[in-house]
Amino acid sequence: MRTLIKNIDILTMDDNQTRYENACILIEDDEIRFVGNLSDLQADIQYDKIEDGEGKLALPGLINTHTHVAMTLFRGYANDLPLMEWLSQKIWPVEDRLSEGDAYWLSLLAMAEMIRGGVTTFADMYMFMEETALAVEQSGMRGVLARGLQGPDEKSGLRLEENRRLWQNWQGRGNGRIRVMVGPHAIYTCQPSFLLESKELAQELEVGIHIHLSETGKEVEDSKKKYGKSPVRHLYDLGLLDGHVLAAHCVHLSEEDMDILEEKDVKVAHCPASNLKLGSGIAPIADMIKRGITVSLGTDGAASNNNLSIMKEMSLAGLISKGIKEEPTLIPAITSLQMATYNGAKALALEDSVGSLAPGKKADIILINTQQPHYYPHTDWANHLVYSGYSSDIDSVWVNGKKLMDNRELLTIDLDKVYFEVNKIYKRIMEE
Ligand code: NI
Repeated sequence: MRTLIKNIDILTMDDNQTRYENACILIEDDEIRFVGNLSDLQADIQYDKIEDGEGKLALPGLINTHTHVAMTLFRGYANDLPLMEWLSQKIWPVEDRLSEGDAYWLSLLAMAEMIRGGVTTFADMYMFMEETALAVEQSGMRGVLARGLQGPDEKSGLRLEENRRLWQNWQGRGNGRIRVMVGPHAIYTCQPSFLLESKELAQELEVGIHIHLSETGKEVEDSKKKYGKSPVRHLYDLGLLDGHVLAAHCVHLSEEDMDILEEKDVKVAHCPASNLKLGSGIAPIADMIKRGITVSLGTDGAASNNNLSIMKEMSLAGLISKGIKEEPTLIPAITSLQMATYNGAKALALEDSVGSLAPGKKADIILINTQQPHYYPHTDWANHLVYSGYSSDIDSVWVNGKKLMDNRELLTIDLDKVYFEVNKIYKRIMEE
C-alpha cells in the first residue's frame, strides 16, 4: 500500500532541521519511503492513494513522554492542592474504586484527545495497564507502558508480577507499536529494597525504567532527611540509573544532580503545566539542555494538567524558561519542537523508528491546517507552531502508516461510545 502526500510543506525535525516547501512524502505500508521534492521521486512509481496537502504542514507525530491516561476520569476533580495532599487525600482514595474494565474506556478517552492533538506516541505509568494496552492496540497509537509500582507492601509482589505479565502479553504487539517499561512510581512510594526489585525486573526483561523524580521541594527535603542525599543521588547510589531511565519532572536539581543525569544519560520528561498547576516549581531545562541531557515533554495525567496537549506544553516550556531566567534567548521555538518530537523518541529509545520524517522511519506523521488566521503570514513555522498553534489545528494523523484521523474525524475510536461509557464510570465512581 503506497500513499503519496503531495503539495505539502514539511518540517522534518531531522538532525539538519531540513524543511521543504510544496514537497511530498511517500508512505509505503508502515514506513516512510521518501521525503522531498516531487521532481526527485522516481517517475514511474505507482500509488494506491494520493492526498493533497495544500494549505497544510507535515511534522513527525508529537510524543508525550509522561502521562497516566486512565486518569482522565479525575480531570477537574481535585484542584488547587499541593502534590502530596492532592495524591493522598483526593486521588488515591478514588483510584481505589476503579475496577477492571474502566481503564480501557478512560484510556480510549485520553487517546482520542491525544490523537486530535497530534500526539502519536505516549509513555504511561499506571494500573490496569493491560486494558490500556488493549486500547493502544485498537486506537492505533504507539504506547510505551509501565505498571506503576509501589512497595514493599502486601500487594507489591503482585504489582511486579503485573508488570512482568504486561511485558509477556504485550511487548511488540500491535505490529511493534506497544513497548513495555518497568514503572517504580517514585522514591517516596518505593523503599530502596523495592526499587532494587524493580531494577532487577527491568534488567531481566531488558527494558527501561519510568519513574517520577525530584518533582517537589518536599521530595528532596524528605530524601535528605531519610537518606542524607538528594533523590537523584539516592537512585544513583542504588544503581537505578545504570540502564535506560525515563525520569519525569526533575524540577528540583542541584548541580551535582545534573552531573549525575548527564553522566548516566537519564532521559527527562519535562511536564511544565502539571508542575505549575501543582505548584511544584519550574524545571531547569535550559541548564539541562546546555549539558546535553535529553529533555522531552509530558503532560502528566489529566487530573493535574488538566489536558493532554503537547502543543500547550511546547509553548509553556519555552515561555516559562525565558521568564524565570529573564533571558529571552533561551529555548528557541525549534528547541521546544525538538523536545516534542525527536527528543521524545530518544527518551523512549525509539529514535531509530520515530521522532523525525525520513526514509526508513515508521510513518508517524501529522498534518497541521495552516489556512487559519493565527498562522498568517506564512513565515517561520517553528515559531508559529509553538507560540500560535493549538491542538485543534491538527488535521490528519498517521501512525505506523495507518490513518487515525482525517480532517479531524477519528477513524479508529467511536467517540460517542467512549463518552457514554466514561459517563457511566463517572456516575458509578465519583457520584456514589
Ligand atoms: Ni506523573
